[in-house]
Amino acid sequence: MFRGKAKEMQSNKFIISGILILAIAACSPEPAPIHEATPESLYKGSIYYASSEYNCKNCHGTAWDGNGPEAKALKEQGLEVPAFTDATAPEVTPVDYFKAMTVGTDKTKELPSGHAYQSHTDRARWAMAHYLYSLAPPVAEKDAAKRKAAIHAAMEEVKKAYATSRRWNMGYTPISERPQSPKLEDMSGYNPAPAEE
Ligand code: HEC
Repeated sequence: MFRGKAKEMQSNKFIISGILILAIAACSPEPAPIHEATPESLYKGSIYYASSEYNCKNCHGTAWDGNGPEAKALKEQGLEVPAFTDATAPEVTPVDYFKAMTVGTDKTKELPSGHAYQSHTDRARWAMAHYLYSLAPPVAEKDAAKRKAAIHAAMEEVKKAYATSRRWNMGYTPISERPQSPKLEDMSGYNPAPAEE
């Protein structure tokens, strides 16, 4: 009799905790879209920048001022590395930053990387774009409306891009559509059987 009661209480406990878990899951907010800045994405953006396999700091500098060790040589070639800590024109948006590191700019076409860092995921590039963009001082009061309108228009473009794809290709050819490399056995010099002695 007593045992039966204990068992019943135990199963009630399971039911209650199950309901609680479901309730918490239902109430927790949707994760923010990848192109939106959140405190977490800004934090991660700073880490990605500092640890990128592309060595962003080599050009853009550890103090984000465009004075990395490679910047001087680039300047001599006529390619100025921007300082993220400088004020930006009111028309500039985080989307420009995202594009600059996704397909590069007209000026970075000659760089071996093309400044197209697509082995970072879209999420990581957004995190870096927002983080680096946040380093510039805010626009002057008189330009605030212009800046707001620019960001609104740019974000509309972004929403459209992500409505149809999880990845914003921007002219990038997906792996499945790239030319395939030749089969190993078709390559000249391929010799599967060891030479007989
Ligand atoms: C080889 C040097 C080099 C490296 C490495 C490099 N950049 Fe750049 N980056 C440049 C130059 C030069 C420009 C300016 C291009 C222009 O003026 O059109 C630029 C522009 C940018 C811009 C646009 C800034 C603006 O004011 O419009 C962003 C954002 C950016 N880089 C992010 C990165 C990130 C993130 C990395 C690492 C993943 C990186 N860069 C690595 C040289 C570099």
